[in-house]
Amino acid sequence: MAHGYGWGVPVLALNHGSEIDMEEIITAQEHYDRLADQDHGRNDPPALQSYMARWDGPQFYEMLGRLPGRDVLEIGIGVGRVARKVLKAGCHCLTGLDISPKTLAIAQTDLAEFANLELLQADICDFRRDEGFDVAYSVLTFMHVENKEKALRNIVASLRPGGAVVLSIDRESDLLNFQEWAVRLYPWPPEQYAAALEQIGCDVSEPVPLIDSLIRPDGKASDTYGERVATLIRGTKR
Ligand SMILES: C[S@@+](CC[C@H](N)C(=O)[O-])C[C@H]1O[C@@H](n2cnc3c(N)ncnc32)[C@H](O)[C@@H]1O
Repeated sequence: MAHGYGWGVPVLALNHGSEIDMEEIITAQEHYDRLADQDHGRNDPPALQSYMARWDGPQFYEMLGRLPGRDVLEIGIGVGRVARKVLKAGCHCLTGLDISPKTLAIAQTDLAEFANLELLQADICDFRRDEGFDVAYSVLTFMHVENKEKALRNIVASLRPGGAVVLSIDRESDLLNFQEWAVRLYPWPPEQYAAALEQIGCDVSEPVPLIDSLIRPDGKASDTYGERVATLIRGTKR
């Protein structure tokens, strides 16, 4: 089942049943470094942008709340697809974390016009800036995080009281098959994220399912049309 970046480019696919050699399994950092070498995610055509926007449509931006004047943390900034919109919305400062140095190099170049951007090569499991942010968000990244409790603890510790964490969680599987290689994933159901955030000190709203409504440029419905492609989870630090 196709499950990620769109048609015409390598597809992230669920790997139910097919054989994968262990040698072909690489780390998430290596995967995104390889994609950066291939210029993935950069200057995506409008059709692919619509495909990707299924994970961060209007409901996602609504959940981020008021951005002007806010200090914002993005976990897994990638090449800055979402960050550009958040920066344009007028946040005070955006700190973007990513484990992939090659991806960050692209973000650095493509977002050079924003003086209020801080890019850091860091794993969210090792990053914490106590009460440093008003908003923290992450899109299509948490499936890569094995120690989610630690990552969520770091995020919540990095929020000021009353600050918001917004996660756009993919329909997670346990392997991302990129045809020539694969990456191990660490799926959690949305309810588990919500429960963990509650336990760490957040009030969590009812998770919001994002239903795919994409019609491809050829007029055909996306292969996951009408299905839940993601879930939005929002917590407010008590
Ligand atoms: C699918 S991309 C999504 C990028 C961006 N959020 C978007 O939606 O366009 C996932 C990104 O998360 C980064 N990443 C994966 N695991 C991470 C971790 N533990 N800490 C920080 N970044 C991570 C990857 O390097 C990659 O750039």
